[in-house]
Amino acid sequence: MKRSDFPMLGYGVGLRRQHYGHVLEARPKVDWFEVVSENFMVAGGRAIEVLEGVRANYPIAMHGVSMSIGSTDPLNREYLLQLSDLARRFQPAWISDHLCWTGVGGHNLHDLLPLPYTEEAIGHVAARIRQVQETLERPILIENVSSYMAFADSTMNEWEFISAIADEADCGILLDINNIYVSAFNHRFDANEYIDALPAERVVQYHLAGHSDHGTHLLDTHDHPVRDEVWALYERAARRFGAVSALVEWDDHIPEFAELAAIADRAREIFDANAAERTAKPALSADHRA
Ligand SMILES: [Fe+2]
Repeated sequence: MKRSDFPMLGYGVGLRRQHYGHVLEARPKVDWFEVVSENFMVAGGRAIEVLEGVRANYPIAMHGVSMSIGSTDPLNREYLLQLSDLARRFQPAWISDHLCWTGVGGHNLHDLLPLPYTEEAIGHVAARIRQVQETLERPILIENVSSYMAFADSTMNEWEFISAIADEADCGILLDINNIYVSAFNHRFDANEYIDALPAERVVQYHLAGHSDHGTHLLDTHDHPVRDEVWALYERAARRFGAVSALVEWDDHIPEFAELAAIADRAREIFDANAAERTAKPALSADHRA
């Protein structure tokens, strides 16, 4: 799988309940929406009507929170079939979920929990992603989660882990820029090194979000504007990876839609400025040669 297997959707916003009416009625100028798959795994009613209305006007991607791809519990076949049905009906550009586990022994812990970065975990998760991709009949994207603790058993860093899984499973990466920043601060690693080390052709989408600063650690709360340090990291990613679909995530204390759309516009501006710089450089060196 490579990025060009997927469309470049542009700069979008995560669809949230508070904005359903506005999105349907005003059709705001935004390139695309990401929808949380589980919110629409229902037989009918308002949620499905909303999704039909949104889909009629915008491309969408489906983003899930329940796959628990890292767990040792068997994959939830019923969940995957429902996901597959939803995708067949609404034709998302892609389906994504998190590189994490959310429960074990049949218990759901309602959190996106990190994995030990080991060869054993790579083999385990990659095999499960392949199973999911067979069921869904398409490659999926896996997202890096933020974390607040690390396993003593880990034998590699996070970017080596996610790169190896994506390679072995032949899946894409949904790169959450804020999560890299949060985890880099919490675990004292270099966020730039993370961006520089990833396999560029597998990065299909970004998440941009805000976090909260608790002094000793950062929390991935999705309730603040995107911080300058995260924009700087996004700019580095934009320079390295080129055109990648970007998406604004905001889950708590959700502002007016216009504020989210403005973040998406800023992501576009930063990418365009860097793309212009890239194309300007060869012209300049040609002048010097002359
Ligand atoms: Fe995210």
